[in-house]
Amino acid sequence: MSAPSICVFDSAEVAVRELAGELSELIRSRAAEGRMAVLGLATGATPLPLYQELSRLHHQGLSFANVISFNLDEYLGLARDHAESYWTFMHRNLFDHIDMPESNIHLPSGVLPEAAIPAHCTEYEARIRDAGGLDFQLLGIGGTGHIGFNEPGSPRDSRTRRVLLDEMTRCDAAPAFGGVCQVPTQAITMGCGTILEARRIVLLAWGERKAAIVNTALNGPLTEQVSASFLQEHPNTSFYLDHGAASALESVPSPCGSTVTLPRRACVPG
Ligand code: GLP
Repeated sequence: MSAPSICVFDSAEVAVRELAGELSELIRSRAAEGRMAVLGLATGATPLPLYQELSRLHHQGLSFANVISFNLDEYLGLARDHAESYWTFMHRNLFDHIDMPESNIHLPSGVLPEAAIPAHCTEYEARIRDAGGLDFQLLGIGGTGHIGFNEPGSPRDSRTRRVLLDEMTRCDAAPAFGGVCQVPTQAITMGCGTILEARRIVLLAWGERKAAIVNTALNGPLTEQVSASFLQEHPNTSFYLDHGAASALESVPSPCGSTVTLPRRACVPG
């Protein structure tokens, strides 16, 4: 087991340029082999600069025609065309600006009859498997330490399923919905086990607001109470942070390459 690498950048913009470079390399090398690149995508404010950078790269010639995507999650109760659905979010911020075929785009459905939910979740897992598994999974981190919507109590081996949203998560989303009462109470999310099967994972976090939970995820115990802590056991995960998000780190398990600025503590051996 190798601990996640921690990469601290001067700004989110610098971090996403590095990551977009890695993703374009993956997409181009797969295209050269006549293969698809399978990306797990995330929502929230955090990935927005990455999506802008990917859209920019597309305008400079990067094709996404050989990309298949699977989003982490979707609110239950929101139709695709709802302004706050993740379907709308992903189209507004990425898919409308690149050339991915619509048939390659996958998000869990937000409108399903109760009885159809388990089969839908099983099928989502099967589609990821049939695509060859996730080459890359992008993550943010929620206030409760969740990845996707794997709220406290999500087992390490959980799969795609319906979950109840934590009150903190609903409060965080309240401004976008015009009040906490408008925020859905449930969602469908990939499970921790689904996410951890990705061959490469990058978690993004910006700003001091994320500092404490980033430190807990990296240096706290592995626990269902903080699903991001399971990333400590993943063999190919990086945390891409700005200085604010890295400001509470007690220890830096394994610094990454020379292309990034590491905090002073990361340079101290041991
Ligand atoms: C939601 C999403 C997560 C995301 C989190 C943080 O809970 N389901 O995938 O990481 O919000 O959002 P933000 O990036 O806006 O802080």
